[in-house]
Amino acid sequence: MCRATDTLRMHLYVDTADLDLIETYARSGVIDGVTTNPSIVAETEYTYHEVVASIAERIDGPVFAQVIADDVSGMVEQGRAYDAWAPDVIVKIPATTAGYEALDRLRGEGIRAGVTVLFSVSQAVLAAKNDATFVAPYVGRLTDAGEDGLQVTRDIQAAFDAYGFDTEVLAASVRNTQQARELYRAGVDALTLPPSVFEASFDHHKTDEGLAGFRDDWGDRGDPLRADASEDQR
Ligand code: G3P
Repeated sequence: MCRATDTLRMHLYVDTADLDLIETYARSGVIDGVTTNPSIVAETEYTYHEVVASIAERIDGPVFAQVIADDVSGMVEQGRAYDAWAPDVIVKIPATTAGYEALDRLRGEGIRAGVTVLFSVSQAVLAAKNDATFVAPYVGRLTDAGEDGLQVTRDIQAAFDAYGFDTEVLAASVRNTQQARELYRAGVDALTLPPSVFEASFDHHKTDEGLAGFRDDWGDRGDPLRADASEDQR
């Protein structure tokens, strides 16, 4: 179930700061927002503020921005600033002891913020106890490390559903469409997909094959909007 910014639907985000891609993806109508992290922003030539403001102009939904500081006061200061950069910003805070304290303070001020770089059910439950807006388990990085990132994410979702937490489970670090499929099957609240996985999500070889057949069969029948068969170009 989805609870972060609206109800009764899942959220699909893209994990990128590529503005051209974001414009294209926004036109598809299927994305609910954009997630960023320091690595993604560092690949651009812009400041974090410029990136967030530019993304916010292009989408109807939240932009997730991650604090860089690792001390409580620094994270709180950055979180407050990020929150003011655009009308719909959600602050990402790392799953550290200082991060949980910063989260508690920001949530106490009504700022939407959640926990990222998160790898366990315990870290997720602690975040929910502090009223995190979301938790972002890193599915791919867990799997790369030989652990079952999908199962950790399912377990977080099950715990949150059992406790009735309002915190959104936002599966991150998704490596391929197979992982996305398993997360959808589990009914995980939200996913953020890198461009490669987002774009691959539209594809199926049988769709290409089917369309080729329809094109062949249509042949030179011409414009399907023509008024009558006499306009046929044959
Ligand atoms: O943005 C957080 C997360 O999605 C990062 O993924 O691919 O760097 O493990 P990745």
